[in-house]
Amino acid sequence: MKTGFADRVARAAASIPSGFRPRTAVVLGSGLSGIVNGLGYEEIPFGDIAEFPKITVQGHKGLLCLSGKNAVMAGRFHFYEGHHLDDVVLPIFVLHAIGVRTILLTNAAGGVNRSYAPGDLVIIKDHINLMGANPFVGPNPTTGDGTPLGDRFFDMGTTYTPELRKLIQSHAKRPLKEGVYAAFTGPSYETPAEVRMAAAMGADLVGMSTVPEAIAARYLGMRVMGISCVTNMAAGITDESLAHDEVVAVGKRVEAELKALILDVLAGL
Ligand code: HPA
Repeated sequence: MKTGFADRVARAAASIPSGFRPRTAVVLGSGLSGIVNGLGYEEIPFGDIAEFPKITVQGHKGLLCLSGKNAVMAGRFHFYEGHHLDDVVLPIFVLHAIGVRTILLTNAAGGVNRSYAPGDLVIIKDHINLMGANPFVGPNPTTGDGTPLGDRFFDMGTTYTPELRKLIQSHAKRPLKEGVYAAFTGPSYETPAEVRMAAAMGADLVGMSTVPEAIAARYLGMRVMGISCVTNMAAGITDESLAHDEVVAVGKRVEAELKALILDVLAGL
């Protein structure tokens, strides 16, 4: 990470209205931001949070929504937008700084596992980082007095907390599959050969987010959950060509189911 990252986290956290001390956060992926509508949470545009970069993706709102107990990020920063990985994971650090210790990361993903279908919600059980980058390359971030924010080397053995995977399953209205999420940088979708490679490596899903955030959350010792919304079958699994509009449209279709699930999980924590 770049020198001064911890100061950026502190500045960002200080720009969020005090009085909110959320313990749990949800990050909403492409086409899933509508989940915050009607929650009655206090909405803070990303633009009002110090140090947050500008959001550029269609289907992403760019709001931090806060209640007494929970935080929901409608939108996130992606590597493919050109953001430095420091910026991609900055919100995770800021959420941690305001009290969050458990995080649910959601995303739209392509289905690699042939038993999946568009519209499926899949619990992430592990991930493969194919982004060719890790947010913690570079100096380990430290506070002004030199205290590191976390360990230089840290365990990723149970990144997606097993008990919380069970908790998600217990609240699901239909049995959910569990899968391994492989992250590419994007923004091009994968080639069929890349999808075959991902499958051979053990991936069930492909996407362009979540992995840097999960790494950051584990660095900070947070409990992590992940849910992918399968918006399409990955390239070469079917003959259909992929379009972002379709990804957003399928996301919209399962939004109500995912919203109910998220609210039940939050209530059950
Ligand atoms: N690949 C990568 N990211 C995605 C996909 C995909 O097929 N669908 C939604 N996000």
